[in-house]
Amino acid sequence: MMLQTAVPEPATAHLDEGALHPALHSPVLDSVSFLSEVMGRFPTAISFAPGAPHRAFLDDLDLEASLDRFRHHLAATRGLSTAQANRLLYEYGPTKGIINDLVARALRLDEGIHAPDEAVVITAGCQEAVLVTLRTLFGRPGDVLAVPDPCFSGALGAARLLDIEVEPVAETAHGLDLDELDRLCAGLRAAGRRLRALYLTPSFANPSGTTLDLAARQRLLATAHREDFYILEDNVYGFTASGTDAYPALKSMPGGSRVVYLGSFAKVCLPGTRIGYLVADQLVQAPGTGRGTLLADRIAAVKSMVTLNTSPICQAIIGGILVAQGGSLAAANRRRADLYRRNLRLLLAGLDRHIPPGERNRLGVRWNTPSGGFFVRMTLPVPADLALLERSARRYSVLWTPMSYFHLRGGGTHDLRLSCSYLSPEDIEEGTRRLARLVSSVHDS
Ligand SMILES: Cc1ncc(COP(=O)(O)O)c(C=O)c1O
Repeated sequence: MMLQTAVPEPATAHLDEGALHPALHSPVLDSVSFLSEVMGRFPTAISFAPGAPHRAFLDDLDLEASLDRFRHHLAATRGLSTAQANRLLYEYGPTKGIINDLVARALRLDEGIHAPDEAVVITAGCQEAVLVTLRTLFGRPGDVLAVPDPCFSGALGAARLLDIEVEPVAETAHGLDLDELDRLCAGLRAAGRRLRALYLTPSFANPSGTTLDLAARQRLLATAHREDFYILEDNVYGFTASGTDAYPALKSMPGGSRVVYLGSFAKVCLPGTRIGYLVADQLVQAPGTGRGTLLADRIAAVKSMVTLNTSPICQAIIGGILVAQGGSLAAANRRRADLYRRNLRLLLAGLDRHIPPGERNRLGVRWNTPSGGFFVRMTLPVPADLALLERSARRYSVLWTPMSYFHLRGGGTHDLRLSCSYLSPEDIEEGTRRLARLVSSVHDS
């Protein structure tokens, strides 16, 4: 009898890249790791790359006090003993969340969004809210998602992972080009297909910084009704508006029933809790029964297969902060908005000073001037690609994000995104000086 010789297992198993999900070949999925990789290689460079919140707001947080405050809130509003409250915080929890009432109240007070507590789902960041909403809404092959071009890479990546077909809609200086959206709807209809949903950030978009004004918001809602599509409104930067550039959330406007509202506590409380939320108060009709279920419940069913439930301890930290602020984040947000707007003013002033108008024209450089949010878009006369970024990092010790990561079909090749949200005034000043040197070196070389 022949003895079979065992083939030795290699120490590391090897997989075929081509057999992994095709979304992994999309540059958009590399954008987050790219940022950490480049910042890791040049740790002392001034980085205009990440849209991270400012550390000033994280220094004086007392998380224990927040948890205690939330326990007291549970005792006062639900009659829970300390032991019962601890079980709620320490064990698995309800998929839709445990701070839904506090979030619904804050949305009423701060955004004029009136939705029942049951229409709120607490998610693992706004990122999960995007993913589970898309997964729920896109049920038929051939349904199309429209996105602004350029678009937040998290939304593009989620759609890619879900194999959803995405159509880019160009942006003007004033946000999404609504004429182009009309043409897209008509084209799809003529081809027997449909636009199922539009994802956008109407206020201070990531990455372009653009904002839709009131008339554009009204027109967009009317278009959604006429063309029968839903809007995923991502409002994570809306809080940075001042009086004059604060437009109402689409969800709070007449016609807002078409809108699923997506939010985050990353920029207004602390990113480490990874708490976001969505509001989906639409009714889903079961065929033949005439009975309706809240869309929030259908989305929660999807979430139960993704993260099961959002960390209750992290929810409790945010809950405690909301209770401490009397249910509204408006006052705290005004302080945050002041700092972010100051940084944006410093960034724009630094660019103006170091690349004055005459020089700008000579070099063929331009940038937009948003009044809020975290981002400025700059256009160069040469490709703003990885080679230029490497040179920028090595020779000038300044980092930024190539805009091409945010474009779906190869646009934005000469553009870069600048974020100043977490930098000090001194770093913004020195960083803009270094950017100016990079820009003139590009022209002169
Ligand atoms: C437009 C936009 N939406 C969502 C997110 C992600 O939010 P969260 O950290 O809550 O997942 C970001 C993060 O930068 C963003 O820019």
